[in-house]
Amino acid sequence: MGKTTLSINLAHAFARVGVRTLLVDADPQGSVGLSLTRQSRLLTGFYDFLADPGIPLDRLVVPTRLETFSLVASGQASDYEAGGGMGTHLARVRAFMRNAALRGFDLCLIDTAAGLFGVSGDIIASSDAILVPQQAEPLGIRSVPKLLEGLNRLRVMNPHLTVLGVCLTMVQNDLAESREAAMALRELLPQEMVLKTQIPRDSLFVRASARGLPIGVLEEGAGAQIVFDSLRAEIEGKLDLSDGYRNLNG
Ligand SMILES: Nc1ncnc2c1ncn2[C@@H]1O[C@H](COP(=O)(O)OP(=O)(O)O)[C@@H](O)[C@H]1O
Ligand SMILES: [Mg+2]
Repeated sequence: MGKTTLSINLAHAFARVGVRTLLVDADPQGSVGLSLTRQSRLLTGFYDFLADPGIPLDRLVVPTRLETFSLVASGQASDYEAGGGMGTHLARVRAFMRNAALRGFDLCLIDTAAGLFGVSGDIIASSDAILVPQQAEPLGIRSVPKLLEGLNRLRVMNPHLTVLGVCLTMVQNDLAESREAAMALRELLPQEMVLKTQIPRDSLFVRASARGLPIGVLEEGAGAQIVFDSLRAEIEGKLDLSDGYRNLNG
């Protein structure tokens, strides 16, 4: 939980400091598109490209009010995943990323469906880096070692993958259970595998997504924006963005 919210707000945090950012909705449920453009269901998007890699990127890219921030919806062919297994669409996923780099994007941030298989697996296998959102809640924490085990498997498929680590989301600092879950996770995993920045639970996020906006553009969102600026800085410290184009899988 919290993947799409994290993706939108992190992408916006990069874009607002001038990083040419492409946020891609690769979740067939289409939640990035849903929250950022009203008609996103009708847009040609990522899964259409996987079905037909002849579609030029320009037909997929949706601009936003921020010049450095563009989106790709999940698209019409979003039942596409049903047909594919791990590795099947790898070449097309890579072609998409290559096209994004050629089109001048510095950062391609992809919001995937949960899990490591199907198209999500192919995206991870093709990415430079992965960020793993994790809700700060006891049951969720127990699944994390299993998830990291899975990521290790993917490192074999993609030796270039930088595992940025787990980002705790929906942390409720006023709730002992939530604080304890966050602490338990930090004890379970190697220190460098849990990002220092935690995303608090904040009703502003619900309000922002209802209005189809990253939190930073809400008048009252300036405080929450600081959290994503700090997450961006932390990620920049783990990546060399000046090195050129990066895919970041959210
Ligand atoms: N930090 C947060 N605080 C409060 N609500 C949140 C937060 N992150 C996400 N939400 C809300 O939880 C719901 C699911 O979040 P979402 O980011 O869409 O999760 P996912 O993409 O993993 O399914 C949305 O209604 C969203 O507004
Ligand atoms: Mg989502």
